[in-house]
Amino acid sequence: MNAVEIIKKKRNGGVLSDTEIQYFIANYVKGKIPDYQKSALLMAIYFVGLTNEETLGFVNAFINSGKKVDLSHIKKPKVDKHSTGGVGDKTSIILAPLIACFDVVVPMMSGRGLGHTGGTLDKLESIPGFNVHLTIPQFIKNLETLGVCMIGQTDDLTPADKKIYALRDVTATVENTGLITASITSKKIAEGSEGIVYDVKAGNGSTLPDLEKSRELADKLLRTSRDFGQQAIAVLTDMSSPLGYTIGNWHEIYECIEIMNPELKTNSLSSDLMEVTLYLAGAMLMLGDKCSSIEDGIKMSQDKLNSGDCFDKFLKLVEIQGGNIDVIKNPHSYRKAEYTDYIEASEDGFVTALDALTFGLVAVTLGCGRKTIEDKIDYSAAIFLEKKSWG
Ligand code: URA
Repeated sequence: MNAVEIIKKKRNGGVLSDTEIQYFIANYVKGKIPDYQKSALLMAIYFVGLTNEETLGFVNAFINSGKKVDLSHIKKPKVDKHSTGGVGDKTSIILAPLIACFDVVVPMMSGRGLGHTGGTLDKLESIPGFNVHLTIPQFIKNLETLGVCMIGQTDDLTPADKKIYALRDVTATVENTGLITASITSKKIAEGSEGIVYDVKAGNGSTLPDLEKSRELADKLLRTSRDFGQQAIAVLTDMSSPLGYTIGNWHEIYECIEIMNPELKTNSLSSDLMEVTLYLAGAMLMLGDKCSSIEDGIKMSQDKLNSGDCFDKFLKLVEIQGGNIDVIKNPHSYRKAEYTDYIEASEDGFVTALDALTFGLVAVTLGCGRKTIEDKIDYSAAIFLEKKSWG
């Protein structure tokens, strides 16, 4: 077996065997296959695609490249949620503490902002002191004591995916449903969750703007998770407009605090953000065997938000991960952005569309995201929407 023959086979439309996939990935991680050969294979896969069997082969190879978290000693359901990425998408910040209120363990391994889409880790790190770099033993300990932990991908979990994802990002080979499926599901299996809700975004602000491609991705994610014995639900949600009223790390946390803390509740909570969050919560509770329908789960979730239990859990989560809870209790005390500008419509009218991609790209320029890996994020930078297309 050698790398050139494997690349040629895929380039010519062939189907790779498990042994070939394992050989290629293991040697790439060891540094025995160089980036240029891996890039060539990725581009061949981008054009030819992966069969379901090949996708499983990649998932296995990614998982085998590192450790797997064993949570079997925690005798509670373990359920996570994964979003394929959007603009203003902050649902994880609410869902993780909310679902943990129901005695469902939430082992959440999240990512950073990518291109014009935001990332949960960047939002969490806008909270002073919040540490997303926990070791696996610390991750397990927090899950045992609090039932929820939110971390970034560690070096010992699916290291092959970490290395290959970085390469895909700079070789224009991200947008392939087989590669995306292998990348996401391997992490969700390795982190120890038994149930997973996929929030697959469609619309121009998502990674795969074409609805049919999003559907294809949802099908592949479900099939692959189930093949590995996970229970899975996929929800297709619209990402043609930003979710909620804010885009930008700290201000997205603030918007979530307004939803979670009943004392702060305003009348202008974003209905699209609430709808997506509650639906995903209902699906997570169903997978955790806490209700018999998503609708029941939505009602239960709404009650927990209204009671303040979810906010209490969020405070504990921030505290246990080293974050400053005073700023969570008094969010208005956060450092203000240096410059503010209001952009007003030049005439009366109705908002009929808010182009998510454009808002995402402008947000990156303001400092909410990175153009290069070295860029520093400005956590106070944000865009606030006064009106949305639905009201
Ligand atoms: N998120 C991931 O973790 N992997 C992908 O390939 C795309 C989005």
